[in-house]
Amino acid sequence: EQIEKGGYDHFMLKEIHEQPNAISDTYRGRLLADKGIIKMGSVDNNITKFLNAKRIIIVACGTSWHAGLVGEYLIEEFARIPVEVEYASEFRYRNPIISKDDIVIAISQSGETADTLAAIKLAKANGAFVFGICNVVGSSIARETNSGAYTHAGPEIGVASTKAFTTQITVLSLIALKLGNLKGELSNSKFNNYLQELKLIPSKVTEVLKINTEIEKIAAIYKDAPNCLYLGRGFNFPVALEGALKLKEISYIHAEGYPAAEMKHGPIALIDASMPVIVIATKKGHYEKVVSNIQEIKSRKGKIIAIVTKGDTVVKEIADHVIEIPETEEAFTPLLTTIPLQLLSYYIAVMRGCNVDQPRNLAKSVTVE
Ligand code: AGP
Repeated sequence: EQIEKGGYDHFMLKEIHEQPNAISDTYRGRLLADKGIIKMGSVDNNITKFLNAKRIIIVACGTSWHAGLVGEYLIEEFARIPVEVEYASEFRYRNPIISKDDIVIAISQSGETADTLAAIKLAKANGAFVFGICNVVGSSIARETNSGAYTHAGPEIGVASTKAFTTQITVLSLIALKLGNLKGELSNSKFNNYLQELKLIPSKVTEVLKINTEIEKIAAIYKDAPNCLYLGRGFNFPVALEGALKLKEISYIHAEGYPAAEMKHGPIALIDASMPVIVIATKKGHYEKVVSNIQEIKSRKGKIIAIVTKGDTVVKEIADHVIEIPETEEAFTPLLTTIPLQLLSYYIAVMRGCNVDQPRNLAKSVTVE
């Protein structure tokens, strides 16, 4: 097992550090930035269905559902196709309206999640075209879907999903950009710029991974907190949800993720000097509004850990801690902002003596209801 961990203390840490390569593997052969092309056989072969889709419904569970939410923002932004994101467990039992003009995208790392599999069967029975985004080759979901794209993240052993999440978002980015360009929503020049920027993501993830000692220090300060709040907006709202889920799963600290602006509709009542609030405040993502949320937290004495774009000076003045990420297109920031949140949960869990790779009560894949 030590050999399989490749010198890391835990599979989770190894998998966090594998993300630059995992993301490159996801777009290898697909993202042909120099030719200005995204090549995806499974999308190309079904392109009429994709371009004529009236609606895309994404079904998934847990972290994969969070990736689906990022997918909603990406597909609506770039391709202007309406997207709904559903918990597979709700979708399968609530008699949803599905038509043959809908595309259902099922996202699953393991490809074995019972609820997602049942949602796929229901969608197919109602005439929808079902496209899978899976990591495990030959899995039940990969076989049950009409078509699909593998994430090629490599085996994910840690129960807490890390590289599966970022590679799922990578696949969704490729699909959204490709459809956007083909539908004429994204001009060739904008499309090309996005491709060039996407190509730089793995090296930027490597850069973020280098700040792990800083994150370890922050973890040491907050490891005994009973609660934690995660806030983000736009593309980073799902990242806030994912950050909170990661902390809950492996450290057993109660954590909640919220869209930053929703804070004043309830969670703000929780804020006092003992409440750490992790805020994603990247430069282009409704920045001023998030800064004013940070001020509101500060005036209630909450402790602020902010994820900011490199060179930020405003948030630095207010926050207790800042973690910088390199600049990128706002739509791709989830691929970077997620990394420090994974590391923060990891270090807190280790410091609390938790079983990081196999947290209590959790299974890697939920194959029963
Ligand atoms: C993630 O950290 C979780 N362990 C869990 O939420 C997981 O993402 C969920 O069970 C879905 O699994 P799947 O992607 O294999 O379908």
